[in-house]
Amino acid sequence: SNLQEPSDASSKLFSEFAFAFDIDGVLYQGRNRVEGADKVIKMIRSNGIRYVFLTNGGGVPENKKADTLQERLQLGKHEDVIRGRMILSHTPMSAWDDSLKNDGTVLITGSHPEQSRQIALDYGFKRVVTPGDILAACRDVYPFELTKDGLHGKHVPLPDGKRMLNLADPYTTDIPHDALKIDHIFIWNDPRDWSVDTQIIHDLLISHKGYFGTVSQKNGDKSLPNNGWQQDGQPGLWISNMDLLWKTNYPLNRFGTGAFMEALKGLWSTTTDGMELQFDALGKPSNHTYKYAHDRLLKYYHDMTRHRGQAENEYETPKSHPLRRVYMIGDNPESDIRGANDFNADDGTEWIPILVRTGVWRQTATEREPRHKPAVIVDDVVDAVVWALNNEG
Ligand code: G3P
Ligand code: MG
Repeated sequence: SNLQEPSDASSKLFSEFAFAFDIDGVLYQGRNRVEGADKVIKMIRSNGIRYVFLTNGGGVPENKKADTLQERLQLGKHEDVIRGRMILSHTPMSAWDDSLKNDGTVLITGSHPEQSRQIALDYGFKRVVTPGDILAACRDVYPFELTKDGLHGKHVPLPDGKRMLNLADPYTTDIPHDALKIDHIFIWNDPRDWSVDTQIIHDLLISHKGYFGTVSQKNGDKSLPNNGWQQDGQPGLWISNMDLLWKTNYPLNRFGTGAFMEALKGLWSTTTDGMELQFDALGKPSNHTYKYAHDRLLKYYHDMTRHRGQAENEYETPKSHPLRRVYMIGDNPESDIRGANDFNADDGTEWIPILVRTGVWRQTATEREPRHKPAVIVDDVVDAVVWALNNEG
C-alpha cells in the first residue's frame, strides 16, 4: 500500500478530524498483524491527530488489551500510543452513574468471569457475583459436570453474607432476608460455558424480582403475557456486544458474543411460548458506545496539545477547536459501519465509516454490497487512512 506522510495541509487540520480503529479484522486477524497497521498508528500519533481504539472485544482490563495490541503490532514498549485510548465493549459502563454501581448486585459472566469481576469492581460496582460463586454456594444449581476445568472453579463468598435459596417451594412469598438477589446481569463477552451460563441466566429471568431459586409470583397470571417474566422486577440483562461473527486467523469467520445471545433468545422463545427476550446491548453499533467514543475523542484534544508543550489554559474550551469528522475504520458492516451511520453527534461531527477487506466482510457472488453502506471500501487499514487523509485535502 502507498502510505505517505500527510501533507502540511492535512497536518494543519489535525484538530478537526479523528480516527476510531476497530481491532479484530482491521489491525490484526487472530494473532497476525495486518501489514502496515503499526506504521499508520505511529504516523497519526506523530501528526497530533486524535484517535481511539473502538473494539467489541472485552473481558480483559483496558490496559491489558492495550498491551496485547502494542505487542501484536510490534510497537516498541516505550511508545505509549495505545494505553488510555482503548475502548472495549464494556468500557462505557465505567462512566455509569454511581447510584447504579452502589445499589444492587450484579451477576457477571462472559469469557473470563473472574477477570470480569475484577474489572467491574474497578469500574466501581460494589457487589459482583459470578456463576462460580453461585455454584460454590449451591452446586445443585447445575446438574452436570463442568465442561471446562477452572472456568467456574474460582469463587468468593456471596456478598453481604447472602445465601442461595434451595426452597422446596420456589413459588413461596416468604423469602428470607438473606436470600441472594441479583439486580443486573452483565454478559461481558463470549461466554465459554454456554450451558452453565444459560441455566443461571434463565433461572434469574423467571425469578421473583431476582431472588435466585424463586419463580415470579405473577407466574400463571393469565392477564400478563409471558407469565410475568421479564415484567415483574427481574434483573435487567445487558450484553456487551452483539457480534455474531468476528475475524480470527482461521479462514472462516468465527462466532462471537452475539451467537450466545441468539441461542439464549431461541431458548427463551421456546420456554415462553414465543416471547421475545428483552435486553440491552452495548458495543458497536450501539449509540451509547459511539457517544462514549466521541466524548473521549473530544477530550484528547487537551491531552495531546498539552503533551506538545502548549499552555493548559489555552485549551480549556474544546469548542474553539471542534471535531468535524471521525473516520471509523472497521471490518464488520453490522457493527462498525452501521453504528457510525446511525450515530448523530450532538455537536454535528460526522462519523464516516470506512470498510476494509481484511476482516469479516467479503464480497461474494450473493453479497456484492454490504447491507450497511460505508463511505468507501478499501483493501486494508493503510488504504483507509490514506483515503481519509486525501478526503481532508
Ligand atoms: O470479540 C471480539 C469481536 O467481537 C470483535 O472485535 O475489534 O472487531 O470489534 P472488533
Ligand atoms: Mg472487527
